[in-house]
Amino acid sequence: VAETTFAKGLEGVIAAESGICQIDGANGRLYYRGYPIEDLAQHSTFDETTYLLLYEELPSREELEDFRQRMREGRELRLPVQDMIRHFPEAGSPMELLQSVIAYLSSTVQHRIRHSATCNCRRTLHQIAQMPTVLATYQRFKEGGGYLESRSDLSEGANFLYLLRGEEPSAEEGRILDTCLVLHAEHGFNASTFTARVVASTFSTCYCSVSAAIGALAGFLHGGANERVMDAMDEIGSKDNVDPWLDRKLAAHEKVMGMGHRVYKAKDPRAVIMEQLLLELSEHRGDRRLYELLKRVEESFGAHMAKEGKPIYPNVDFFSGAVYTMLGIPRYLFTPLFAAARSPGWLAHILEQRKDNRLYRPKALFVGPQPRAYVPLEERAGMASRALV
Ligand SMILES: CC(C)(COP(=O)(O)OP(=O)(O)OC[C@H]1O[C@@H](n2cnc3c(N)ncnc32)[C@H](O)[C@@H]1OP(=O)(O)O)[C@@H](O)C(=O)NCCC(=O)NCCS
Repeated sequence: VAETTFAKGLEGVIAAESGICQIDGANGRLYYRGYPIEDLAQHSTFDETTYLLLYEELPSREELEDFRQRMREGRELRLPVQDMIRHFPEAGSPMELLQSVIAYLSSTVQHRIRHSATCNCRRTLHQIAQMPTVLATYQRFKEGGGYLESRSDLSEGANFLYLLRGEEPSAEEGRILDTCLVLHAEHGFNASTFTARVVASTFSTCYCSVSAAIGALAGFLHGGANERVMDAMDEIGSKDNVDPWLDRKLAAHEKVMGMGHRVYKAKDPRAVIMEQLLLELSEHRGDRRLYELLKRVEESFGAHMAKEGKPIYPNVDFFSGAVYTMLGIPRYLFTPLFAAARSPGWLAHILEQRKDNRLYRPKALFVGPQPRAYVPLEERAGMASRALV
């Protein structure tokens, strides 16, 4: 019998081999299939990075053109999906909408996985190509607009902004958002990716796996810190208020959102790039207010934590919310956009899981009641429902 260990939340447990993402937390380095994130951010595009994640190598020119065309053809939403968006409950979250649409799309595909150990997501590309269109269309309908067809001459980032605004963004804005998508495309065995792999390990469809992963990302411990960073910036308001605000937060032992990371113990390399993108956008707009406010929080918080001997650095979420805000993206679309950007990573992990599959089946340490006699209805006190609400 193999020795069994107990690790709450599977912390520190190696559950699979993976060749997709390497994170060097101590030195703040990140690689997708061996390529440094800095190089991908500077030279690649979201569709090319998607190809790299799904096909394991960078594409040739011809391969990229063919792939790009397939991605762009996959963007349009069929009428039933448009109707789903139109009739989605007003109080519903766009994360729930995304989950529903992806699950619905599963029913429109002939799944190879039902007959063999491989799936056809490299061909259909629905989850990657349609998510940004779903989100932009959701926003358009919310504002009383109609369905807008995508522009096949625009990158994923630029097309999203085009759909959202109804007019073409500047080349710089399009490039900046496309780079943000590259930065979020993959990040190892986190909760949503693990969820995707667990579902894929049952040979469920890749759509059902991605839909489940979106559910995992919806919780505030995973997605959503950038929204909270922007809420904090609203609360702080101006640079003069940074120190009193920080003093209050730290005295109350509250976390400063966008700071610290489970894996990175240096500055998150994505935060370094995101900061640069925010600076470019701020210079371009002639408005450095958010940039300067964030830098002031970073400096003051950094100095405070260093004094306590606990160096804590910004993570990717610290600057991304400000970039999205300056691009005119509403706050409630930040996490759904993260889901859209992460879908290539999820699919890469699903494909990898299927290559050498082992059904996930961990065990729990049983701490419940020992076997006991069944109590007849008339003899029960009935306290349980009052204790557990
Ligand atoms: C991500 C996070 C959960 C990692 O937590 P962690 O693994 O416990 O971090 P560390 O072990 O490096 O923390 C070391 C110390 O710094 C403190 N610390 C870490 N992040 C902090 C933050 N954002 N604000 C204030 N203090 C923080 C911890 O409480 C801990 O203090 P202690 O030694 O007195 O208990 C945490 O940093 C956090 O909640 N950050 C804010 C939320 C966020 O931005 N999430 C997005 C992540 S991509």
